[in-house]
Amino acid sequence: MKVTVVGAGNVGATCANVIAHKELVTEVVLLDIKQGISEGKALDIWQTSGINNYDTRVVGVTNDYSRTAGSEVVVITSGLPRKPVMSRDDLISTNAEIVKSVTENVVKHSPDAILIIVSNPLDVMSYCAYVNSKLPSTKVMGMAGILDTARYRAFLADAINCSPKDINAMLLGGHGDTMVPLPRYTSVSGIPVDELIDEATLNAIVERTKKGGGELVSLMGTSAWYAPGAAAAQMVESILRDQKRIFPVCAWLQGEYGLKDIYLGVPVILGRKGIEKIIELKLNKDEMKLLTDSAKSVKEVMDVFDNLNKK
Ligand code: NAI
Ligand code: 2OP
Repeated sequence: MKVTVVGAGNVGATCANVIAHKELVTEVVLLDIKQGISEGKALDIWQTSGINNYDTRVVGVTNDYSRTAGSEVVVITSGLPRKPVMSRDDLISTNAEIVKSVTENVVKHSPDAILIIVSNPLDVMSYCAYVNSKLPSTKVMGMAGILDTARYRAFLADAINCSPKDINAMLLGGHGDTMVPLPRYTSVSGIPVDELIDEATLNAIVERTKKGGGELVSLMGTSAWYAPGAAAAQMVESILRDQKRIFPVCAWLQGEYGLKDIYLGVPVILGRKGIEKIIELKLNKDEMKLLTDSAKSVKEVMDVFDNLNKK
């Protein structure tokens, strides 16, 4: 069983490393366009196998898609990361070209693969991969919600002084400042979160979560990789082990939540067939308004992408 990770940068290499450590497959192929980078990182990861006791082979290749043939899942992380003062949307034209060509190459060699997109702007790059792959939408999805809820859970764990393991949360919408963390769907070992922290603290955490990616960009001058790489690997695990876990995933909506023809973060059941079900929460009016606003802002960037394609 094989998984390919395209882009051997910060996120891609981290994701390949986590997949290997979890022994999800017999082989991880790490592909990059830059000569030597994926070969070097793959070799470095493979050399941890004896220390960390796993036997998943990690192989690096420079732009050789024949080596990715027959992959069950492909994670696409290729593209520019965000720099300070750059929004995710600024990345659109460069990353759209990269994601398009990568998707076409991937599908040529692995026509049955499930695609997980990580490149930003996430919702629109997922759309780009969907349009160019011609795969069913159940097999093309974006990673953002697991990362964004993980940030939310980490902030809550700090505030409550409890383990993040016990925090269960859901979050909807685009991967950007309009994302919609849902306190009404957040609990700590079954206890509603608002019984453990006051409203002002909770609201501050929701706001910090929405800007969680930007906080890290300001600190490091580039975007995060440990949590993003681990989040993408968790999606690979749920798919390959047919775990049917319920995660927020960027999915193609066809009427769910009253939204149509848009890639947006929603809860899904993730299993061997990909997105096996989109779950519709019974949102209240305020939550629905936040989701609709988020959809509007994603649609604007999708329109930029569609217009680029008309030129
Ligand atoms: P990076 O710059 O460390 O790595 C990107 C890699 O892609 C580079 O090694 C580059 O050579 C490679 N690449 C560029 N064009 C390529 C092509 N045509 N074929 C193969 N490889 C190619 O960037 P990093 O930090 O790994 O981020 C990758 C992407 O993921 C960025 O767009 C970033 O904004 C996004 N991201 C998304 C997150 C999410 O939650 N969805 C979270 C973190 C990052
Ligand atoms: C993140 O959320 C920038 O999308 C990237 O870390």
